[in-house]
Amino acid sequence: MSRSTLSAILAVAAASTLVFAQPDPADPTPLVDKHYAYPSGIPYQVDYNTAAIRGPQTGYNICNSTTQNQQSECQTSFVNHIDDFCLWAPATPNSTIADTEAEEVAWCTKSGHGTRVIPEGALQAVQYLRTPDYIQITGFFDQTQLNMAAGDYGGELDPHGADLRGNPLGGLMYSNAYPSNNTDNSTYTQITDWTNFMGGNAFCIKVCDPTGSNQQGYCQNIYDRLGCEYNAPSNVVNGTFEVCDADDMTPVGVYVTNGATMTYTQPAESLGAITTVPYTPVVPSSSNCVQYQSAQLYSGAPAPTSASSVPTSLPSGGAGGSNSGNGSPSGSASRSGSAAGTGATGTSNGANTLGVSAAASVVGVVFAMAFLS
Ligand SMILES: *[C@@H]1O[C@H](CO)[C@@H](O)[C@H](O)[C@H]1NC(C)=O
Ligand SMILES: *[C@@H]1O[C@H](CO)[C@@H](O)[C@H](O)[C@H]1NC(C)=O
Ligand SMILES: *[C@@H]1O[C@H](CO)[C@@H](O)[C@H](O)[C@H]1NC(C)=O
Ligand SMILES: *[C@@H]1O[C@H](CO)[C@@H](O)[C@H](O)[C@H]1NC(C)=O
Ligand SMILES: *[C@@H]1O[C@H](CO)[C@@H](O)[C@H](O)[C@H]1NC(C)=O
Repeated sequence: MSRSTLSAILAVAAASTLVFAQPDPADPTPLVDKHYAYPSGIPYQVDYNTAAIRGPQTGYNICNSTTQNQQSECQTSFVNHIDDFCLWAPATPNSTIADTEAEEVAWCTKSGHGTRVIPEGALQAVQYLRTPDYIQITGFFDQTQLNMAAGDYGGELDPHGADLRGNPLGGLMYSNAYPSNNTDNSTYTQITDWTNFMGGNAFCIKVCDPTGSNQQGYCQNIYDRLGCEYNAPSNVVNGTFEVCDADDMTPVGVYVTNGATMTYTQPAESLGAITTVPYTPVVPSSSNCVQYQSAQLYSGAPAPTSASSVPTSLPSGGAGGSNSGNGSPSGSASRSGSAAGTGATGTSNGANTLGVSAAASVVGVVFAMAFLS
């Protein structure tokens, strides 16, 4: 699909929740069309125009040893290996993704990227899948350690948004994992199509190979109310850390019924809660899984900052998501607000997944739908 066609669809999809779903005249170039070589070509801020409706980005893109701390406002992110990736999360404690989607900063598994570092023990499960066309990381975590409110069902971060400036604004993504440029770990490729759901104590992040096929289908961003289960189907098991090869998923929204290939489109929020989706996502088969211990992967992380209680069951209320897209004072182009709810169904290489995870996933999505209606 051509970029212009995709943009048109985005505009239509976004128009359902926003009066003005279109590029901001002050910064009309879509974030996905802003390309910078790393590190030499990175500007201090890619989104700096103070006349823009949502304002300039809150952080910066040049990140280095002086910005390497737990107050970092770095908005340049990486997805490399299971021991070296970043998630987008709030800059200040007890925030919801819906309220802060434009302002998220990079939280990485290790230092060296000029960002915050995810505290020790915050990641409770991580599955890294390498497919022919993308890398997908799903997992469970104590989201309060990444400044998210305990009950937040969260939402989607992606390089689009109704004004095409991205959430977070100006957020850049790089990887050293793609074949075209993986001769060593210091050569980075900019990722233009990616998606990151955060919430419900689960996360998923998917980065599509810029030289791969159908990156806009695999890293689709118009199913933001359906969470990880639909956008990043996985059989991640809580408490495990593994790297696998996997097949590509069926592009988000595409399914086969009675021999016919159909495309499901997420309905507008104005039509109310999504009560049914006409298909169940299929978890692609995986192989060559290698398991790790958390300590092997995430040594050197800072200690947790507080004795925050980790919810052991799903919280019974969405602190976040409920107001998303309802027109923030700044005329925000917010469209986020679905549970990350990582799908955990079936078995993986003989290992039984935790029933609680499967239940959490379903309930999380249901909750997200209820709160977002
Ligand atoms: C380090 O990053 C900061 C913040 O972006 C920037 O102001 C500074 O110029 C950078 N330093 C170097 C040596 O690049
Ligand atoms: C988080 O914010 C909510 C709503 O403002 C508040 O009720 C709650 O006490 C806060 N929690 C913490 C741990 O600060
Ligand atoms: C790249 O980094 C990964 C882990 O982060 C490591 O396993 C691998 O050996 C590195 N490759 C090279 C060529 O240094
Ligand atoms: C790969 O690296 C080369 C040299 O650094 C660069 O010119 C090229 O744009 C990179 N390819 C991609 C897809 O980023
Ligand atoms: C994952 O496991 C951790 C540690 O046992 C637990 O605290 C957390 O609630 C679990 N998360 C989910 C979503 O089941």
